[in-house]
Amino acid sequence: MTTPPAPAGPAPVAATPAASPFDLGARLSRTPLPTAIVVFGASGDLSHRKLMPALYNLALQQLLPPELVIVGVALTEWSDDEFRAEMKTAVSEHSRSGPVDEDVWAGFAHRLHYVPGSFDDAAVYRKLDELLKDSDTQHGTRGNRLFYLATAPAFFPVIAENLGAVGLADESDGVYRRLVVEKPFGRDLVSARDLNHRLSRVFRESQVYRIDHYLGKETVQNLLVLRFANLIFEPLWNRRYVDHVQITAAEDLGVEGRGGYYETSGALRDILQNHLFQVMSIIAMEPPARFDSRGVHDEKVKLLRAIPPIRPHDVSTHAVRGQYGPGFIAGEPVPGYRQEEKVDAQSNTETFVALKLFVENWRWAGTPFYLRTGKRLPKRATEIAVQFRSPPHLPFAELPVDAVTPNLLTLRIQPDEGASLKFVAKVPGPSMDLRTVSMDFSYGSSFLKASPEAYERLLLDAMLGDSTLFARWDEVETSWEIVDETLAAWAGTMADFPSYAAGTWGPDAADDLMARDGRRWRRL
Ligand code: BG6
Repeated sequence: MTTPPAPAGPAPVAATPAASPFDLGARLSRTPLPTAIVVFGASGDLSHRKLMPALYNLALQQLLPPELVIVGVALTEWSDDEFRAEMKTAVSEHSRSGPVDEDVWAGFAHRLHYVPGSFDDAAVYRKLDELLKDSDTQHGTRGNRLFYLATAPAFFPVIAENLGAVGLADESDGVYRRLVVEKPFGRDLVSARDLNHRLSRVFRESQVYRIDHYLGKETVQNLLVLRFANLIFEPLWNRRYVDHVQITAAEDLGVEGRGGYYETSGALRDILQNHLFQVMSIIAMEPPARFDSRGVHDEKVKLLRAIPPIRPHDVSTHAVRGQYGPGFIAGEPVPGYRQEEKVDAQSNTETFVALKLFVENWRWAGTPFYLRTGKRLPKRATEIAVQFRSPPHLPFAELPVDAVTPNLLTLRIQPDEGASLKFVAKVPGPSMDLRTVSMDFSYGSSFLKASPEAYERLLLDAMLGDSTLFARWDEVETSWEIVDETLAAWAGTMADFPSYAAGTWGPDAADDLMARDGRRWRRL
């Protein structure tokens, strides 16, 4: 292990950040055990953009254990020092906390190591094992290991099996060995089951942490707080008062150089089956008795199981797909999906999807949930809109019930995080004129502090052994079951692609999906 000269004295840490009761609470109550984090795919995009900046920011907030090493594994032939230099550039380009703090970086870089090699080469794992044992002696990492699979999915089982072969999945000495698996977890029900089966031959379910980064977003966690730490919403949160729910994840970006991956995925697999189903399950599940891993997962699974899968004969009425053609974003011309790098000129991959789903249980029977996501839509906006019903009767003379707009609660996940409730008020003056007004909560103005990146929270939770904000196997499986037949029905070619111009709100068919029910998508 080549270690740069240690900076004099104890490993440097950040200057104490501005005092905040929240920060203090976080530091006091969350202290991960000494550990080695091994990132497979350390030369890749995720590692550069998300993982290293998140780890560095945890260091900056003094949330990492002092006895820590981070080992990158990838094919690129880097030395430890080259890896450190590369990661420093990544952190300076992508960290949310601005310019790199040289003191904190020196302490952080001291913990970074690199093992070059191929993920299917057994020798790489022997070398890794030696290096980790060495770090137990030199850095006090005490045998704990957190393996992060930031590679192409084909390598997930290969890496797990190789780790198992050198004993790196073995927790028998009172140490922990955890496997963090990035999405996609399979590409349909069969492949997800196969992947799970292969992982489970090496790692127990309690060792596997399936990342869905939406669950690490502060605003998604706040959905739980909004629902279950307030009294006023829950009594109305059901079929009697809610007309329907819309969940939208709109992106103005295209595929941003990820055409190769996206061609194997599409909007349904990339965002809807994972991120939006997670959001929907949090919005619609029953209150867990306790906010712990088992309590939350059990409720989410119960909810997902209550969503009837879309059957082949319902695909045309309950599911819409689209693909963007050339168009304009913020006034600038952008190419169509088929003109993007590494995309087939005849591609049938959907870049937009909308679904209409029901939840067959006492709370929600008959209340539709409309979910949509798409790339190259007019703006980036992720929100949940809970549309309440109209009041049954208006006691104001000559005002019909439809003279008022029913209440609407919108929960904005990003950007401009917050919530607003629309309700009806009287316009000042002699006559009974009514108008819809809005009550707003904004994170920015209420808390005056930036939310941490989702990956910071999730990496910390994985180190702490808290899987509440990760996806359990049965959640993943049930999510695939809901859309499996839609994916199969869409496997053929699509004559009408591209079906929407970049910079518009998706294909007309998405509006028709709502119009058939006498409803409309919200214009965001
Ligand atoms: C990823 C998808 O999981 O989520 C990307 O692969 C998408 O295609 C991204 O752009 C969106 O995440 P966020 O946090 O920007 O909403």
